[in-house]
Amino acid sequence: VTFSVGSTGGNATSPYQYGLMFEDINNSGDGGVYAELIQNRAFQGNDVYPRSTAYWNPLGGAALSLKNLSTPLSAALPTSMQVTTNGTGTTGFSNVGFWGFPVVAGWEYKGSFYVSGGLDGNLTVCLTSNDNVEYAEASVEVSSSDAWTQYNYTFSPTVSAPNSNNTLNFTFAASDLTGAVNFNLLSLFPPTYNNRENGLRIDLMEGMGALKPSFFRAPGGNNVEGLREPYWWNWTQTVGPLVDRPGYPGTWGYENTDGLGLIEYMLWAQDLDMDISLSVHAGYFLDGVAVPESEIQTYVQAALDQLEFLTGDASTTWGAYRESLGYGPFVVNFVEVGNEDSLGGGGPTYAAYRFPAFYNAISAKYPDITIIASYYDVDGATPPYNASGDFHEYAIPRQMSNQFTYFDNYTSAHPILIGEYAIIEYDTGVQTGPQWNTGAPRAFVPFWYGSVAEAVFLLGAERNSDKMIGAAYAPGFQNLNRWQWIPDLFEFDAYPAHTTMSTSWHVIQLLSGTRISENLPITYDGVWGPAFFVAGRNAVTGSHIAKIAVYNATASVPFDLSFDGVGAGATANLTYIVAPMNATNPIGGNVVETHTSMVTAMHNGSFVFELPEYSVAVLEIGAQ
Ligand code: AHR
Repeated sequence: VTFSVGSTGGNATSPYQYGLMFEDINNSGDGGVYAELIQNRAFQGNDVYPRSTAYWNPLGGAALSLKNLSTPLSAALPTSMQVTTNGTGTTGFSNVGFWGFPVVAGWEYKGSFYVSGGLDGNLTVCLTSNDNVEYAEASVEVSSSDAWTQYNYTFSPTVSAPNSNNTLNFTFAASDLTGAVNFNLLSLFPPTYNNRENGLRIDLMEGMGALKPSFFRAPGGNNVEGLREPYWWNWTQTVGPLVDRPGYPGTWGYENTDGLGLIEYMLWAQDLDMDISLSVHAGYFLDGVAVPESEIQTYVQAALDQLEFLTGDASTTWGAYRESLGYGPFVVNFVEVGNEDSLGGGGPTYAAYRFPAFYNAISAKYPDITIIASYYDVDGATPPYNASGDFHEYAIPRQMSNQFTYFDNYTSAHPILIGEYAIIEYDTGVQTGPQWNTGAPRAFVPFWYGSVAEAVFLLGAERNSDKMIGAAYAPGFQNLNRWQWIPDLFEFDAYPAHTTMSTSWHVIQLLSGTRISENLPITYDGVWGPAFFVAGRNAVTGSHIAKIAVYNATASVPFDLSFDGVGAGATANLTYIVAPMNATNPIGGNVVETHTSMVTAMHNGSFVFELPEYSVAVLEIGAQ
C-alpha cells in the first residue's frame, strides 16, 4: 500500500473526536464507578423495585425488618432497617456488598451510618472474610435515641484479601440493646479518585483517563428516559446531601441510589478533563408514552433549571442553590435532548413538538450551547434548525468494517456525535446486522477483529472529522456479577485485580492518544481495504501523523508512505497493536500486544514498514 500525504488543502478536525458515554447499566454506577461499597445502603425503592432488606443478613440471633418510622431519617429516605434480637451474646447484621468487598492493604476506608432507637454501647464494624478472617475493624460508641444521629468511622487493613469474598459486619452486645435499634444510610467508601467525598472508584477512573477522552455523554442512554411516568431522570432528586436523594427506578432492572448524581457527573467530567454533553429528559418514556404538547413545558423548564443549576451565578435561584452546596459554576458545551427518540415510536412527537420546544427554549437562553437531537440517522433524517445529531451504531464486524466512507457525503452543517457504538456480535453466516432479541449469541466481551472493525469505523469518522463531534463506545462497563448488556468497554467486579480493559479499549487508547488537528489530503490509487488510513498534523506538537487499520488481510501488509515536507532521514515512531483475530481479553489480563519501533524515511522520503493482518497503528513524525 503506497500513499502520500499533502501539506495543504486539509480541514480542521473536531477537538473532541474521542469521548465517553455513561449510563447506569450493568451496575456500572451503583456497584461500579460510584465507589460506595454497601449495597442497599438506604433501603430505597418504589413500586418498580420494592424496598427490602436484600443484601443484609442477621448475625447472632438478630431479626431485621423494614420500618417506616414516625420520625424517618428524611422525607427522601423514609424507610429504615430495624434490628431486634433474641440473642444473648454478640448480635448484629452484615452486608454482602456489591457481590463482596475489596480488601486492600493500606487503603483508608471511610464509613458512616445513621442510628435511632435503643442501642447504648459499643458497635463494631468489621471487614471480614467469609471464612472469618478479620481484615479491618472500627469501634463506634453509640448512644442512640429517638432522634437520628450519624456516626463515622475509618479503618485500614494491613493485609489484602485474596478475593472479594468478604462481608461488612456490624455487631454489638445484645445486652446493650433496649427494644429495637434502627439504621439507615449505612455507607462505606474506599479511597476515591482525586480523594473526593462521595467519589468514584480509582481503577475505573484511571482506566477511563488513560483513553484521554475529550467529551462525556451523561447520563446518556435509556436511563435518562425512565421506565414510565412519573419515573424519569429527574436531576433535582440527584443533588444535595445524600439523605435528600430518594433514588430512582433505573431502567436496567435495579434501583439507582442517585448517590451518583448530577454534580458527581460534572466532577467526573472535570477530573478527566472532559467537556460535558449533558443528556436531558425529552418528555418520552420507555413504555412508549410521550408527554402531550400541552404538558411538555414542564420538562423543558426542568432542563432550563438544570442548566441554570450548573452554569448560573449566585444571583440565579438554581445557581445559588449550587453555590450553597459548595460548587462554583460548571461549563456545559453540549445538551442532548432525549435518547434514541427515533426508536420506540417516539419519533413523530419528537419532530412535531418535543424537540422544537427544547431547542427553542435552550437556544434562546444559551446560544453558545450546541444542542444535539437524538432523533437521527445519517442516511435519513437530519436534525432540524442548526442542531447536531446523535448517531448510534451497534453492528457486526462485516458491517462496521464497511463503514469507512460512511460519513463522506455528510454535511458539516449538523456535526455528528457518535454517542454509542460497538461491535456486539461475531460475523456468522450470511447475517448482515445484529440480531436483536432473537436469541442470537452476543459477544460476551469485545473481541479483536471486532475491535479492529471499530477502528475502521473510527478512522472513517476521523477522516470526516470536520463533520463530527466525536465518538464514544457504549456501554462503558460490565459488572461481572449483574449485567444486562454485553459486550462492554471494561469488565470489573468488587475485586480490583479483575478489572479488565477490553480489546476495544486498546484501540481507543491508541487512536485517542494521538490527535490529528488538521486532516491532510491523501493521494492513493488503491482501494480501501484491507488497509484503511487517515493522515494529518497536530498543531500543538507540530507532528505529522498517519493512523492505519488493517482489517481482514491474508498476510502482513507492506506500507510505503510519504508526507509532503518530510524528507529523507526523518524519523517516525511507529506503534501498532495486534492480537489473534478471535482473541478476547481474559478477566484481569490482556492479549493485545503493543509494538513500537522507529522508522527512518528512506532517500526518497518514504516510510516503509509492515503491519499484521488485523492491526491498528499510529505513525508519528516529529512529536515534541
Ligand atoms: O448502551 C445501551 C443502550 O443502547 C442504551 O441505553 C441505548 O441508548 C441504546 O439502545
